[in-house]
Parts: sequence; structure tokens; C-alpha cells
Amino acid sequence: MRLEGKVAIVTGAGGGIGQEITNQLAQDGATVFAWDISEKIHSQADEMNQNLDAKRVIPVQIDISDIAQMRSKVEQIVEEKGKIDILVNNAGIMQTIPFLEIDEQSWDRMLDTNLKSVFFLTQAVVKPMMDRKQGRIINISSIAGRSGRPVAAHYAASKSAVLSLTKSAALAFGEHGIRVNAICPGVIMTPMMEQINRDRARIFGKENEENVAVNEFLAKVPIKEIGYPSDVAQQVVFLCLPESSYVHGQAINVCGGYEMN
Ligand SMILES: NC(=O)c1ccc[n+]([C@@H]2O[C@H](COP(=O)([O-])OP(=O)(O)OC[C@H]3O[C@@H](n4cnc5c(N)ncnc54)[C@H](O)[C@@H]3O)[C@@H](O)[C@H]2O)c1
Repeated sequence: MRLEGKVAIVTGAGGGIGQEITNQLAQDGATVFAWDISEKIHSQADEMNQNLDAKRVIPVQIDISDIAQMRSKVEQIVEEKGKIDILVNNAGIMQTIPFLEIDEQSWDRMLDTNLKSVFFLTQAVVKPMMDRKQGRIINISSIAGRSGRPVAAHYAASKSAVLSLTKSAALAFGEHGIRVNAICPGVIMTPMMEQINRDRARIFGKENEENVAVNEFLAKVPIKEIGYPSDVAQQVVFLCLPESSYVHGQAINVCGGYEMN
């Protein structure tokens, strides 16, 4: 119970990676406000709580791109718990669309969900964290944010910007006791990856093949293995522990060597 007494917010807590992050933080003793746009978050939280010795996963159905709603939820948590120790900006969407076909609506939705929410949620939690001179913020970016994606340029741009935001926040708040880092997952088996498989099969005319995206990406992964949500969640837990207090403003790749920068 290394995180006993800690209060965390995890966004996208109902998805593949978010669920596992929520689970591992709660297993380690944290109280986790599990935010997700889907109503399924309620039944998912019930399930997670059944495997814990106390009800430590608190479901919140929320659209993180609604900034006013998000700010008021943060205020509610601070009022109720007196603090926020950990924020994991994990929620994200991905759309496979060729560069020339991305329209303004897709661009705005992508950037509102993957980037604007990260900025304003960070802004909202930093104030209570600064008051107590401690806090951990972990942003889930992507290997795509390290390079680029010809059929998901808006996604890659949003994830690159998350890396920049991570550094700006680290520079701004490090001396106030707050540690800010990012994680760049590679090929992780989740509902998002299954959708990418289907989309790439459609776009590249490979409807009869299975795992089109995973196979294509795996060819570039030196260890020839796909990753699982627990691979990402373990790094998140590490970044919440005292052992990582000298790790700051960094982006850790969890990708089996897909990228080496
Ligand atoms: N799976 C991968 O291979 C991979 C690779 C690199 C980066 N990532 C990143 O990891 C994060 C989690 O991805 P995942 O694979 O678990 O995806 P996922 O689709 O399984 O889960 C995403 C979750 O975010 C929620 N969400 C979406 N929009 C929201 C909104 N507006 N408000 C609140 N919740 C919202 C969804 O309901 C879903 O539960 C994302 O930021 C993604 O970009 C994933």
C-alpha cells in the first residue's frame, strides 16, 4: 500500500490503459476518481471495487473537453478530500484518416479531447497541489507524438503538443514540489488498438486480414512483442512513488524499443 491516503484523478479510466492505471493505483492504496465520458464507468468501478478491501474507485461520468464541468468536478474533489495528489491525463481519442481528408470538425474534436483538456485540467489541479507543495502529474502521450502519422496527423500533432505541455508544466511547477512527466506508449492492446486494426484494414483494402495495424507496427518493434495496459500502468505507479522524485519533465517510452529517442 505504497500510495495509501493519496487522492488521484485518472481520465479515460474506462478504457484499456486507463482502467489498468486506475486499478493499480487503487490496489496500491490510492483513492481514485475514475473519470470517463462513458456511462460504463459506473459498472466498471463497481467491478474494480469488488477486488479491493475498500471502495477506493469513485466513478465520475464526465466529458473532459467540457472545461467548465471539469473545473467544477476538481473543486468538488478538493472540497470533499482537501487535496489532489495525482493527476493522470490518460483520456484520448484516435482517428485513422488520411492527411488530406482531415476536416475542421475532426481536427477540433481531436485537439479538444487530447490537448485542450490536458492543459486546463493541469491548470485546475496545480493550484491545490501548489498549496501543499506536492503533486504528481503524468500525461499519456504516444510514440506517434515523437514522429508523425500520415493517416492520423491530427492525433500525432495532439500527442506532440502533450510532450511540449509536459515540459512547460515541469518548468513552471517543479520548484513548487510538483513532478510532471509523460509516458509514450507504443503498441498496446486495447479497444483503441482494435479500432485502429479495423480502420487500417478498411483504408488499405485489407479487410480479409486480421490485426493489420498491430502486425505492421510490430515489424518496427525490436523485441517483437505487443504491449499490454499493465506495462503502461506500472510506469505510472512508479512516477507516483517517492523513488521517482528526481524524474521530472521526462517522457518515458513504453514501446519495446519502437522509438529510441
Ligand atoms: N493503445 C495504444 O496502443 C496507445 C498507444 C499510444 C498512446 N495511447 C494513448 O493512451 C491513452 C489511452 O488509450 P487506450 O488505448 O486505453 O484507449 P481506449 O479507447 O481503450 O480508452 C480511452 C478512454 O477514454 C475515454 N474518453 C474518450 N474521450 C473522452 C472524453 N471526452 N472525456 C472523458 N473520457 C473520454 C473513452 O471513453 C475510453 O474509455 C490515450 O491517450 C491514447 O492516445 C494508446
